[in-house]
Amino acid sequence: MASTISPQIRILPGGEHRLLTDIGRVDPRTLASYRERGGYGGLERAITRLTPDAVIGEVEAAGLRGRGGSGFLTAAKWRVARDTQAERRIVVANLMGADPSALGDRALAEGNPHLVVEGLLIAAYASGAGEAIIAVRRDWTDAIERLHNAAREATESHLAGYLVLGTDTSIQLSVWEGSGAYVAGEETALLNALAGDRGMPAIRPPFPASVGLWGVPTVVQNAETLAHVAWILLHSAEAFRSVGSEASRGTKLVTVMGHVAEPGLLEVPLGTPLLDLLGMAGGGTGNTKALFVGGPGGGAIEAGGLTMPYDYEPLQEAGAIIGSGSVLVTDAATCMVEAARFFVDFSAREACGKAIPCRIGTKRLVETLDRILAATPRPDDFTLLRELSRKMSDTALCRLERLAPAPILTTLDRFGDEYRAHAERGICLAGACRTTDLPPLIGPLTGVEPAAPLE
Ligand SMILES: Cc1cc2nc3c(=O)[nH]c(=O)nc-3n(C[C@H](O)[C@H](O)[C@H](O)COP(=O)(O)O)c2cc1C
Repeated sequence: MASTISPQIRILPGGEHRLLTDIGRVDPRTLASYRERGGYGGLERAITRLTPDAVIGEVEAAGLRGRGGSGFLTAAKWRVARDTQAERRIVVANLMGADPSALGDRALAEGNPHLVVEGLLIAAYASGAGEAIIAVRRDWTDAIERLHNAAREATESHLAGYLVLGTDTSIQLSVWEGSGAYVAGEETALLNALAGDRGMPAIRPPFPASVGLWGVPTVVQNAETLAHVAWILLHSAEAFRSVGSEASRGTKLVTVMGHVAEPGLLEVPLGTPLLDLLGMAGGGTGNTKALFVGGPGGGAIEAGGLTMPYDYEPLQEAGAIIGSGSVLVTDAATCMVEAARFFVDFSAREACGKAIPCRIGTKRLVETLDRILAATPRPDDFTLLRELSRKMSDTALCRLERLAPAPILTTLDRFGDEYRAHAERGICLAGACRTTDLPPLIGPLTGVEPAAPLE
């Protein structure tokens, strides 16, 4: 079958393919093709043979953690929604694809949409929700078409809608097309947008699982998490647990890009060393300097630290995150100050502006980096970077603000000499940029000629 997903998404071999295995084998436009490969077997088993509590128990036994960034235990969220007294509950599949550096959710939505829909229906059954909403990014046009089609086919075949599979369970399935900046993928921002308000985050608690969309318990789940749910109900919790780290079982979709020979999408057991991810992407194209792990709010791990497992807690301890599952590889000719500026500038532009420390803080961080890059720092600029970062993290309304300073803090800790060389001598140790009009006092230490001044 010709490729069924956007050409910019390349699926790489290696790792452990579970969710990716049917992409290119299943026709994403037909339910029949999905069913031929065992599709909806997990939903049938859940709805006709297991109680909602037993489904929650199975996902709990699998140890599934949310793949959208937080790593929160999926079963625990369902239990909160189920245990909250309510007439009505809702589940939402988060396909806002807010982080443009992560391709996993889009690959699933385009290449195997029924897998996500099946997981969503199982989540609805387990958490006692009668409504299931697929919230998808408006510019993913192929994904939208296929998800609409999948929802229609599932409903017409009594896998969704009234009296699912002849049981007394009803789950109304719909597709909602949303748009917005990076922050629009944050779950409370998404729920506000779904309710017709501005897509801005809300203070938590209360968490959506107890008070969510229109005030009713709402389970928001990442698309990849839902695909794993369908996989678990078909293959068993034990099979799911057969790979992964002690704390984080199963696989994760990871997008590796930047200075690598084969950028693309991987599926690997959680806990796989970062060095192996680099290897599966064909290795670095130059002298690898650092991996920025976790997207805009992620952090830089230096080349010497790549034995670190790709896992929630170890990454967090190192100042990085799993985030939406992206890894940007940078080589020796990449300026770490510029790289940090790139990420923080993204967060500043893609924030909503609701929280003042975030709205102003991210901009001040960018301005401070610009002074350092221009070799015109103020005496307290390095203190300011750290103090402002700490205050933003302490007072954050949402994770965008809390994590936005991470690229600065990790590069400052691990590549402080690059900051000092820019600030004090106006030179880029990577030989990548020169932001003053004056010639550098001494040449770049790497022996590479400085590139043209930045605009
Ligand atoms: C700035 C920001 C953007 C986010 N974007 C997404 C997104 O595009 N898709 C997603 O599933 N989760 C995103 N999240 C995480 C969600 O808030 C939420 O944790 C997730 O959808 C819950 O699903 P999970 O438990 O299955 O991971 C984002 C979080 C933040 C702070």
